[in-house]
Amino acid sequence: MSRAVLATAHANIALVKYWGKKDSQRNDPATPSLSLALDVLRTETRIEQLEGSGDLPGADLVELDGQPAGEKTTRRIRAYLEAWRQEGLIAGHFRISSVNHFPTAAGLASSASGFAALAAGLAAFAKKKIPRREISRLARMGSGSAARSVPGGIAALPAGHQAAARRILPPEKTPWGMVVAVVEAPPKSVGSTEGMIRSRLASPYFNAWVATARKDYRRMLRAVKELDLATVGHHTENNALAMHACMIATRPRLMYWSAATLELLRCVQVWREQGLEAYATIDAGPHVCFLARREELALVAAEVEKVSGVQRVLVGLPAPGAEVVPCS
Ligand code: PMV
Repeated sequence: MSRAVLATAHANIALVKYWGKKDSQRNDPATPSLSLALDVLRTETRIEQLEGSGDLPGADLVELDGQPAGEKTTRRIRAYLEAWRQEGLIAGHFRISSVNHFPTAAGLASSASGFAALAAGLAAFAKKKIPRREISRLARMGSGSAARSVPGGIAALPAGHQAAARRILPPEKTPWGMVVAVVEAPPKSVGSTEGMIRSRLASPYFNAWVATARKDYRRMLRAVKELDLATVGHHTENNALAMHACMIATRPRLMYWSAATLELLRCVQVWREQGLEAYATIDAGPHVCFLARREELALVAAEVEKVSGVQRVLVGLPAPGAEVVPCS
């Protein structure tokens, strides 16, 4: 009988961003990063070992949201499984069926939860027990941000070779959550892998960005431990703006924002002046996430809904790390 497991993981939103690779092959990050995993951004992945598929190339099957995955995704997942086989961690081929319980097309961080769930699930088939930190390192090979979804909660990922994420605050002790404003936008033209290469090669601000991210990371570690929302929030917003300055200065430019992104950035300042404490962050896309106290998330969501160009509003609480359960 074939064996199967069900793995779940949650996508995370970075408060200090990873943007730039030291090594593209191994996905070694050039910047340290720190993030919050969100319960509304959940991925569920079923992994089934296929019998009798031998060494046929392309024998791994990949399904996304109940349909065979597109060519690009299938190639990426097969290459990832191949890397595990080459490290001697697993043998044989698999059927990978992944479901995202959030709008994937919206360009939210589905690769983070996807590769975290996949790495945690594959570890259940490994020839030896793989420690959690090692699962995080392996998830990073699929997508840098996925390393942080393995521990969940507030997680920190240092830069460099062998980097793996560690949890610095568990979800139940994290007093903040996030409101995600999904804005109207066409599909993004440059993905994060390609964008990071372009910024490193052709942004005059790339080195300044890396130096800034290192400083922000150190300050952020301290502020998170002190549960100091004002400091965490200001670093969050400033760090995202520094990353986007580096992106926008890339030649040719990497401009992920839309008019609604700018409007939301303007509004968050007004909300703060009026006493509603929320701080914005933006990944490689037009959507804006707002960090706020758990008890003020509903108030922030109500304000976000009023902003023109906002298509959908999600409210997320801190989420745990990747988990695996056996299934039939
Ligand atoms: O993990 P990747 O390759 O999708 O890159 C993530 C890049 C950002 O979302 C922009 C920043 C981050 O740290 O999540």
